[in-house]
Amino acid sequence: MLDGSYPDRPHASTTQLADGSTYVIRASRPDDRDLLLRCFEALSPRSRRLRFFIEKAALTPEDLERLSQVDGKDHIAFVAIRVDDRGRELEPLGFARCQRLTPGGRVAELSMVTVDRVQGMGVGSSLLSRLILAAQRQGIDRFWFEVLMENNGMRRLAQKIHSKAHWADDGTLEYDCLLADALPEALPVPSADTPPLAAPPRPEPSRDWPWYLDPIFWMEPWTETWRSDLATYLSLLEAANEDASHWLEWPGPLPLYGQVWRAAA
Ligand SMILES: CC(C)(COP(=O)(O)OP(=O)(O)OC[C@H]1O[C@@H](n2cnc3c(N)ncnc32)[C@H](O)[C@@H]1OP(=O)(O)O)[C@@H](O)C(=O)NCCC(=O)NCCS
Repeated sequence: MLDGSYPDRPHASTTQLADGSTYVIRASRPDDRDLLLRCFEALSPRSRRLRFFIEKAALTPEDLERLSQVDGKDHIAFVAIRVDDRGRELEPLGFARCQRLTPGGRVAELSMVTVDRVQGMGVGSSLLSRLILAAQRQGIDRFWFEVLMENNGMRRLAQKIHSKAHWADDGTLEYDCLLADALPEALPVPSADTPPLAAPPRPEPSRDWPWYLDPIFWMEPWTETWRSDLATYLSLLEAANEDASHWLEWPGPLPLYGQVWRAAA
């Protein structure tokens, strides 16, 4: 059953990993500092860089303060935790959080991480689906997030929730995700009834392209940037066109090619 409630049902779901161990996803609390530290410790240097965009040896006291200040409204976070047979929490597997860009605003910045040991096993998708449901309940309409170009895992997740990508000036990708479009069947919400997750995908000797070589995937950021730049250019062209037709006393718009280009955009 879907349940994105926050924070009144702390352990709403359990799921099995391919290795047979079980994890739960619950709302993160301000006293989860130890879990934050242990999660960070379990990250490879690469995962730390993909998450924080810099080489990072440790979480600073300021980081801890910022990451633990969840309130369930402007800053919503979920944590995945491996548990034992009796439901006792053993180790953190990942966090997903969103923070409104302005208090009470409808857009929030998304960030997430799962420990290297379980990446590709579905934990990130499950965290994200819980977060999306909770964010929507709090009146958040969109997620905004930045991703390094080489971050195939996050780019894949962004694609699964139908985010639109733009290249930023610094060469990173900026994503915009309308949450109303974001919860496809593709993102499973873990529940006790869910069968164990499959093992992480391995490259197969196949004639099919791997998804990340699919032109639709790697062309998309360029297409989006091209579309938005073209839209800006066309609005300038239209304004100039109007000015010129007024100046020439031309009856109606000048015969430029704006219509054709607009249709292409
Ligand atoms: C990005 C991240 C959070 C994804 O979490 P995850 O637990 O691996 O997510 P999932 O297992 O649910 O996988 C989601 C999809 O990404 C794919 N994927 C995961 N890692 C991948 C990788 N390294 N390369 C290609 N695809 C990958 C999975 O196959 C899956 O796609 P599928 O359902 O079509 O098979 C995790 O890889 C991570 O923490 N990375 C380092 C930190 C980071 O990049 N944070 C994001 C910054 S906002």
